[in-house]
Parts: sequence; structure tokens; C-alpha cells
Amino acid sequence: MISSGKIDRIKHLTKELNRLNYLYYVQDVSEITDYDFDMLLKELEQLEKDTGYSEPDSPTQRVGGQVTKQFESTAHLFPMLSLSNVYSVEELADFFTRCEKAAEGDSEFICEPKYDGVAISLVYENGLLTRAVTRGDGQKGDVVTSNVKTIRSIPMRLMGSGYPQLFEMRGEIILPFASFEKMNQERLDNGDDPFANPRNAASGTLKLQDSSVVAARGLECMLYVCMSDEPVADTHAGMLEKARSWGFKINNYMRICRGVSEVEAYLNEWAEKKNTLPFAIDGTVIKINSIAIQDKMGFTAKSPRWAVAYKYKAEQALTKLLSVDFQVGRTGVVTPVANLEPVQLAGTTVKRATLHNADVINQLDIRVGDSVYVEKGGEIIPKIIAVEQSLRPADSVPFNYATYCPECRTLLQRNEGESAWMCPNDEGCPPQIKGKIEHFISRKAMNIDSLGEGKVELLYDKGLVRDVADLYSLRPESLIGLEKIFQDDAMGKTRVVRLQEKSVENIMKGIAASKETPFEKVLFALGIRHVGETLAAKIARNAGTMDALMQMSAEELVQIGDVGEVIARSIVDWSNNLSHMNLISRLKSAGLRFEAEKEELLSEKLNGLTFVISGTFSSPSRRNELKELVEKNGGKMASSVSAKTNYLLAGENMGPAKRQAAEKLGVKIIDEPEFLSMIG
Ligand code: IVH
Repeated sequence: MISSGKIDRIKHLTKELNRLNYLYYVQDVSEITDYDFDMLLKELEQLEKDTGYSEPDSPTQRVGGQVTKQFESTAHLFPMLSLSNVYSVEELADFFTRCEKAAEGDSEFICEPKYDGVAISLVYENGLLTRAVTRGDGQKGDVVTSNVKTIRSIPMRLMGSGYPQLFEMRGEIILPFASFEKMNQERLDNGDDPFANPRNAASGTLKLQDSSVVAARGLECMLYVCMSDEPVADTHAGMLEKARSWGFKINNYMRICRGVSEVEAYLNEWAEKKNTLPFAIDGTVIKINSIAIQDKMGFTAKSPRWAVAYKYKAEQALTKLLSVDFQVGRTGVVTPVANLEPVQLAGTTVKRATLHNADVINQLDIRVGDSVYVEKGGEIIPKIIAVEQSLRPADSVPFNYATYCPECRTLLQRNEGESAWMCPNDEGCPPQIKGKIEHFISRKAMNIDSLGEGKVELLYDKGLVRDVADLYSLRPESLIGLEKIFQDDAMGKTRVVRLQEKSVENIMKGIAASKETPFEKVLFALGIRHVGETLAAKIARNAGTMDALMQMSAEELVQIGDVGEVIARSIVDWSNNLSHMNLISRLKSAGLRFEAEKEELLSEKLNGLTFVISGTFSSPSRRNELKELVEKNGGKMASSVSAKTNYLLAGENMGPAKRQAAEKLGVKIIDEPEFLSMIG
């Protein structure tokens, strides 16, 4: 029996947390501290766990946790169209003429930024967010509801009244520059290729399987239209005002412009303003404000006749390529960076541009001394898009990519199928060794903050550490009094790092305390290429122990989900390396944790059993609940049927391939009631 007191508390907390969430993320008002909010959220989480009951708009869904192996496809209520583009004020004239005809005079327009992100449709039924769907082919898209629910400004339950019983709220999911930069830095740190621009990053994030990773990425949503069969207001602006009253966040970048001249003033204003926004836009959308005139003008097969996108040209500048630096990261990846003659571009001075990899340099045939065009489009890091051949110096020579590591002179290597050249000397190349130790002690890994600020460099220079295990055999007496003078090139200043008794004491304490770090963080701290923080946590939970992980095959690793073939290969290669085996055994002797803490299970009824789920269930969230039930009762989930599968849990319309595979391998096929009876 579940106590009704607990259910009442769940209902109360859900309402209260959603109210606070709305105030904070939509209205920018905080009534309580973040800490108090988290405490209430934790309480709700615990109650939901204890009772197995949650409200459909529970704020616990916002922190993620749901894992979707394959996104289901569904039809849009209204097709998702595109916009026709124009690139100049002259081209706009046609649009204005058509509007004038339809309006029989001057029109009122709504101007607003064209957000450079991924289109999304939010479906609300009886005031509840029931699904979020990507554009797809315009008719059908992918259901990404659990990922979208992590965006806190999107209401899960509407406020007020007067909303249609069924409607779609449309908008654009974007990733602000700050989150984009942070995410790319993490990718580079993990040895992954960075995303080229925030749009690609937003799109990649939206399609992640693990919604808790999505929650940490900082996506935002800009809403611009409400679509339903019932009319909501007479004007576009009025419709958005209504949406605001239902709890949607409607931004203040849009403006009602009366007549062509006000539209042109808006366009001119935003040609400058667009460079100051914290996110990328690639134009201005101009829409007729009156819904009656919109209806009168109608649609072409592809786009509305009552709206147009005025696109800003990406700004370009011509400058000289002075030299190319090669930087070696902690994973050994070598990145070429262009040093440019400083040039003004879209409001900033550009001195450097990434050249990504050797393929990019070859494709563009870039040579030192060339005049090159740099462009800043949606992305923040400028890129070189072309060489001005007519200005190429007569004595120019083709560019030779580095053959040897610029730091340790080892011959560079390139793995098949990868674009980056790598220095394979991971145990002898100084920036790799220091980088690995710095990563190991960093906050999200072992969190030994007493070792920051040049101290790793000092210990390395004095020959006291050559790998992370050396940290655990440091003795205080060999540290006291050590010093290193750092020359700060930029300012010509010097900085002295000297280890005094107090700081040595803190270092020793920090190292000792790090032995309590949970396995998932230790695994991340090891810095295996492509294994970032969240993936490390997932792998640690699945593998259970380091020993088990090091025995896993690439196929087994891929079954974990979110682990692709490249990542699996990287883990297997890492595990098969003798010096890594040795490193783990030294770290074990030092007392580090190499076992995941056991999650509390509801039962052990499914111990040792592997399940695959297929087909549709009463809702996508039901499907996820069933997966969780498998894991909470000791079972394992896999993504495809293999000889190791014990049960195939089938919903409606199960794919024929899975059924055939199950029948061939003699895997038992069960439905939801049969499964529920297994766990009682
Ligand atoms: S209105 C019926 N407003 O651009 C179409 N779209 O290239 C109504 N977009 O599909 C679209 N910012 O994904 C509109 N402020 C904005 C927009 C916007 C970005 C996207 C949207 C659209 C695409 C067309």
C-alpha cells in the first residue's frame, strides 16, 4: 500500500517545483536558493522512487536519466515547412509587393531573428506536453521528448486557460556560444573532433541517447509560432502574447514593424546587433502580423507566402597566413592552428584560426604567405574558406604537414578512418604526460585542486612524476623547497612556484583524499581517448569493475549504448596496452577505487538475464519505464538480439528483423503482462 500522504506530497512538490522553475527560467526571478531547490527536488526524487508514482509533469524529468536507444518517428499535426530566403533589400521588394496586394495597402509585419538551430515541434494535449518532435522530412520527425524536457524554459504543463485542446508550439532549439565552447573544449580534451558550429552541436545533442547528458549541455529554445485548428488570436503578435500567458518563454527580440521602412530599419539595426547576441542567428524572419492576411496569402508547397527569411551574408575578410603552429593535446592529437595577420571581422580582431586537420589544409592548398579569406558565420571560431590565388607569392611552396611531433620528435601516425595525426609516444611526450596528469587531477576527475597552478609542471620538471601512479608515491620531504620560475611570455613577467610546508601538506592531503573518488570518476580520470565524463559513468555502471571492463570485447562495449565502434576500439586498445595494465595495478595498490558502487535494486529476480525491447508501448515513457524495471530488478538491457539475449520484450509492431533473430536463436518473446508477472 502506498501512503496517500506520500502521494499528496509528490503532487504538492511537483506543483511547487514547477512554479519555482517557471519563475526562474521564464521570468528570471528566484524565490529560493539553488540549494533549497535541489533539496526539494531530491525529496521528490526519493518519494517517486519509494512509491513508483510520479506526475506526468514531474520536474525530475528535467535532470534526464531516460535513455532512448532508437528514436521513434511520428507524423506532425501540421507539416513543418521552410521559409523562402532573400539576400538583399532589392529581393525583398517582391515580397512587399505581394503583401501590399493582399493587404490592399500597407501591412504590419513582425520581424524577429532567424535562429540558427534545429526546428522543434512541441505537442500539447489538454495542457500537457505530450511529445517533442524534430522536423525530419517535414511530414514526419523523430520523437525526442525526454531530451527536450531537460530544457527548463519549456513548460510541461500549461498555466492559465484558453489554450486549444490540441496544438503544436514551434520553435528552434539552440546552443548558446558559451555552452558550445565549453562542449567543444571537452570534446578536444577527450580527443574527439569538435563540432563545426552551434547548430550541429545542438542537433547532435538533441539526438543523444542519454537525456542526462543532454541536461548538462545547456540547450535553449526560442519559440515563434503556435499551430492549431482553433484560432488563437487575430494577429501573430497576439498569438505569442497568449502563449506567454500559458507559461511559454517568448523572447523580446521581435518587433512589430509598420510598413516597409520600419522593416528596413529593423534589418539595418540587426545587421550590427546580431554580433552581440549570446547565440547564433543567420538572418531576420519577416512575417505578416494579421492572421486573416496570412490565411489569404496561404502557402506554396514548401513555404508560407506571408513570410520570408532575410539572410545576412557571412562576413569575410582577406588577410595573410603568417605561420602554422602544431599543438599536441593530452591524447596525442596534433591540431594545426593558423597564425594570421590581425584583421577586423564581425566586431572582433581575428589573429588565429583553426585549420582542423591535414585534409582541410590539402583541400584548400593553403601555403604560408598566402592571402586567405576568413569567414565568421554561425560559428565563433573563424575559419579559412579559400586562398586568393592571384595574390600567391611567386616563391611560395606547398605546405608540408608536420611529420614528426613538434614536442618530442616522434614520427606521427594516423589511424585508419580518422582525420587527425597523432603522436604515439604517450609515455614520453612531455605535453601528453603533463596533460594526462593535469586531466587526472582536474575537478571533474580526481579533484586534487592543491596540485594545480603549475605544480604538475614543477613535479614533472624535477623528474618526480612520469605518470599518474607516481603521484601516490610522492613523499613530503622530497617536495618541500622545490621551486620553478615560469616565464610569462606575453607580459615578459616571471612567476615563481615554490613548495612550502603548508602547500606540501595540502598536496599530500589532496592526494590521500582522492583515493575515495568513485570508480566512474577514476575511469574518466584515466583519460582514455573518446571517454568523456558522462560516458565514463555509464561504462563504469555497466562494466561494474575495471577488471571486467578491461576484458570486454568491442562488441560487448557497443552493447552498452552511446559507445560507437571508434570509442569501443579506443577502449580495447587502451586495455590491451601492457603499460596501462601495469598502471592500473599500481593504482590499485595505491588504494584507488576500481569498483562501481552497487545501485539499490528493487529485487534480484532478473539477475544474469539480458533483455532486448522492441516495438511500441502505450507511450515512449512506458518503454523507458520497462527498461528501468529490467535494470532495477537486476537484469541487463541490450540493444540487439544476440546469443546472449534471454528475453525479447515485445510491444506493438515489433520489427520483423528482431522477431526473426529471436526465433532463430531461440530467444523467448514475451509481452508486457508476462514481463510484469516475472518481476511480480
Ligand atoms: S517561422 C511556416 N521564425 O527557419 C514556417 N522560423 O528556414 C514558419 N527558423 O523551418 C517558420 N528562426 O526552423 C520562423 N524566427 C523564426 C525562425 C524560424 C528560425 C527556422 C525554422 C524554419 C526554418 C526555415
